Amino acid sequence: MNRIPVILDMDPGVDDALAIILALKSKMLDVKAVTICGGNVGLDQCALNALKTMMIVDPNHRIPVARGSSRPVRRSPFRAGGIHGPDGLGGVQDTYPDPLLSELAAENGVDIILNTARRWTKDLVIIVTGPLTNIALAISKDPEAMRAIKEIFWMGGAFATTGNITPVAEFNAFCDPDAAQEVISFGVPMTVVGLDACMQCPLGREEIEQEVTRNPSDIGAFVKAITGMYMDFYRRQENFDGCYLHDPLAVGVAIWPDIIIKSELHHVNVVTDGAAQGMTIIDRRPRNPWLNPTCLEVLSRIDGADLNILREFGVAGIPPHVKVILSVNGDLFLRRFKELCFG
Ligand code: BDR
Ligand code: CA
Repeated sequence: MNRIPVILDMDPGVDDALAIILALKSKMLDVKAVTICGGNVGLDQCALNALKTMMIVDPNHRIPVARGSSRPVRRSPFRAGGIHGPDGLGGVQDTYPDPLLSELAAENGVDIILNTARRWTKDLVIIVTGPLTNIALAISKDPEAMRAIKEIFWMGGAFATTGNITPVAEFNAFCDPDAAQEVISFGVPMTVVGLDACMQCPLGREEIEQEVTRNPSDIGAFVKAITGMYMDFYRRQENFDGCYLHDPLAVGVAIWPDIIIKSELHHVNVVTDGAAQGMTIIDRRPRNPWLNPTCLEVLSRIDGADLNILREFGVAGIPPHVKVILSVNGDLFLRRFKELCFG
């Protein structure tokens, strides 16, 4: 079986670390590089967290981990250390010391993305589990190279559900909404795994403990250690003693399309300012012309000038290219995730 050449672009983060484990353990992906963007915590710490996780999975790996942007394209950083722990990995630095910064790739992550895009072109998949900053920067530096890639998967957004960092915004979309809007409107095929689907994939503390007891392993011990503080957050916040597998689900959807229960093609608009910053809007009306052929026909009778205005909102014009995952088989995903991560 040919493995899919892939870049993981992320801001580790506890669930990003779980996504790394899933991607490296999967036999379906050939991870060419892990590129980092500041997000959950600062850029250097995120990069060290990625490297630390990769060393646990395979101490002999030769995959470059490269730092990209430390801050969003046009605004100040917003962090989530209170959720992921001050080190972004549940405060495990004493047990699992940071690697050295000198072990990171010297090349900038954005350049690594572009070189990999040029090398693998239509075969390359990029899975992003943080703000879309690095991808937006790569697009603005060499749009042609980025236009040639196969697909971008992104964990981000909240569609038919509420946000997690504001009433309407999901964290990755909220952190860099300008980048999100730029990448989404660029036109490369994109699959977006938002909170709607992620909240269908809860992993309880007890389940982790059972898995670790059943099959003690270095990876299992690491997962248990890094998820403790993250699960404390959900216990306090919503009385759920566990966590949601946001970022691993983006990897899961890329490797196991059969876990998808409901997806729709949409134009996604990201609100860049004001009270709705980071909100990801899709057209959920029954009269959405792209889901309802009768309404598309009606649109063809609208006056040209008005139609132009509607085009800007994606209600008319170019058909949508963003596949929004609205529902997944959480049990199936969790079973496979546990098999791979805990052995
Ligand atoms: C996203 O926010 C981050 O804190 C997580 O790592 C995940 O990528 C979920 O909203
Ligand atoms: Ca993340």
